[in-house]
Amino acid sequence: MSGEEKENPLTKIFSPRTVAVIGASRTPMKIGHETLKNVLVQGFKGKVYPVNPNADEILGLKCYPSIKLVPDEVDLAIITVPAKVVLKVVRECAEKKVKGVVIITSGFGEMGEEGKELERQILDVAKKGNVRILGPNTMGFKNATEDLDAGFVFGMPYKGPIALVSQSGALCIGMIHLAVMEKLGLSKVIGVGNKSDIDDADLIEYLDSDPATKVIAMYIEGIKDGKKFLKVARRCRKPIVAIKAGKTEAGAKAASSHTGAMAGEDKIYDATFRQAGIIRAGGINELFDYARALAYQPVPKGDGIGIVSNGGGAAILLADFLVENGLRVPELSPKTVRRLKEILPEIITPRNPVDLVGDAGFFRYEASSRLLLEDENIDGIIITCVHAGYARPREYAGAVMKLVREIKEKKLEKPILSCWIGGQEINEVVEDLKADKIPVYPSTTRAVKAMVALVREGMQCRRANPHTF
Ligand code: COA
Repeated sequence: MSGEEKENPLTKIFSPRTVAVIGASRTPMKIGHETLKNVLVQGFKGKVYPVNPNADEILGLKCYPSIKLVPDEVDLAIITVPAKVVLKVVRECAEKKVKGVVIITSGFGEMGEEGKELERQILDVAKKGNVRILGPNTMGFKNATEDLDAGFVFGMPYKGPIALVSQSGALCIGMIHLAVMEKLGLSKVIGVGNKSDIDDADLIEYLDSDPATKVIAMYIEGIKDGKKFLKVARRCRKPIVAIKAGKTEAGAKAASSHTGAMAGEDKIYDATFRQAGIIRAGGINELFDYARALAYQPVPKGDGIGIVSNGGGAAILLADFLVENGLRVPELSPKTVRRLKEILPEIITPRNPVDLVGDAGFFRYEASSRLLLEDENIDGIIITCVHAGYARPREYAGAVMKLVREIKEKKLEKPILSCWIGGQEINEVVEDLKADKIPVYPSTTRAVKAMVALVREGMQCRRANPHTF
């Protein structure tokens, strides 16, 4: 955030100094107990206040009968009391001038008209008292950057540059575990639940202002205010990748009873996403594939892609799929062709794709990829290792890591994606690449789609900043 930029109003809620848990329970495994425990154990540096009229002390902390009796200002209150008590508790939060509440409780708009009415009443009270609401019916949020777990399911992601916003709590938790397995670092994980107040647009605005976030990844079932969403998403300076679920009639019906979302016509969402510059993902792997590329690689200035592979078949597949997806596989400049000839064995034709043949080792991968990166016709490269008999995956990975370090040091705006085709024996090497924050994909199609996302984002950046990009 620049010095002149005003603090986003949600920053105080997602980076609170003081947290109260209203409905903190004495009984382990109850949601109110687990939530308090999570706030305490993950290393949150602020003050924590349990609120429960039926308890004196929970987890070693003095317990307050009402939020109004907490002897401190409260930035964030996490609410875990049953639905029928929530209105009363939110009214007390408004009187106490709490800045925001996370309502974990379910049993509102997703249950039908009665629940919707209760949700409206809670929103009304909150609005009058200037209290922002995340939820209801949410898993809460996890601010990995500041070690705050404001949710009831145990576990924090690795810290990193990707923010995850999800309308499904359980799916979100699953995605956190997947991100851990994939060595993907997350900045904030936010469950939006029924979005009675804080919605996707508010979160895009907040995350755009969050210095720890580079890419915003979203799982959306329905958007209530399309105009606001479009306006904010268009203004956002960071890449947004999103899944929109509930495309079909069956999916839309399921979304309606899940979070009360109106899934709406899919082609309208598709058009909105296109206009907003949001990259749409078909599923979770795709969401992570795109987010990984956008978080860890620069966006290219053009759409000419170079391919380096130790297997001719993989190179051809990549070339086909790149072109089918609107990118180019350009000829190399005469200078590059000449230099490739000098360093490669005679049996290799120096052209794009460069087929390094089966016995390629570190030097062949490194030297030829570097020449492609230096070619003015090439805007980004995909370096592939097919786990054939002679392949040396570790040397391949070493070359990729060295080149990625180099482009970072030189601030070269040419992304490098890594692609491998093989089995168990290559896995260890792939894990090394992931740990080194290198986008690596287990198929040619996934690597190409990630490159398409980078090229599209690059085009958008140029459109938004024609003079500076
Ligand atoms: N202020 C503060 N605490 C209060 C209170 C008040 N006004 N009234 C009651 N409490 C306390 C209770 O005494 C209890 O503590 P205790 O166990 O020490 O007695 C605690 O609040 C919880 O109340 P309880 O009646 O035991 O509720 P519960 O734990 O059975 O259920 C929810 C509460 C919120 C968990 C439940 O209603 C719910 O919504 N579950 C689903 C949540 C969910 O899945 N969300 C979406 C995720 S994606």
